[in-house]
Amino acid sequence: MGRSWSGATMAAVAVVMCCMAVVEAYVYTVGESYGWVVGPNYTAWGFSKSFKVGDYLVFDYSSEYSVDEVFENDYNTCNVDHPISSDKSGSTAFNLVAPGPRYFICGVSDLCKKGMKLVANVTT
Ligand SMILES: *[C@@H]1O[C@H](CO)[C@@H](O)[C@H](O)[C@H]1NC(C)=O
Repeated sequence: MGRSWSGATMAAVAVVMCCMAVVEAYVYTVGESYGWVVGPNYTAWGFSKSFKVGDYLVFDYSSEYSVDEVFENDYNTCNVDHPISSDKSGSTAFNLVAPGPRYFICGVSDLCKKGMKLVANVTT
């Protein structure tokens, strides 16, 4: 474990910061300090944001949870049987590449029904 970042790392960070600023991409951490857990109202959280094409959505969560991107019907019914994608790595990022709604639920047992569901309405 190095104590300071190498020049190459700093250069890479500078490039990332530069170019994100140019396209004005915003990185949203779902639930902010709460992360992705049972408890917060993610419907309300999602409605309070203006997601733009090019922004990122990052889910941070512990090993008891997962993040599934699903179709609208499965979002509405909390059906975890055929997600578009599924991850339980603990940190999952989505690039919001196109306008329109994106649907996310927790794929673990009935946690979607307990509120772990988010719709991100992405606009240009
Ligand atoms: C979450 O927030 C939405 C939008 O404000 C609201 O309609 C819904 O009733 C809330 N759900 C709970 C469980 O409080």
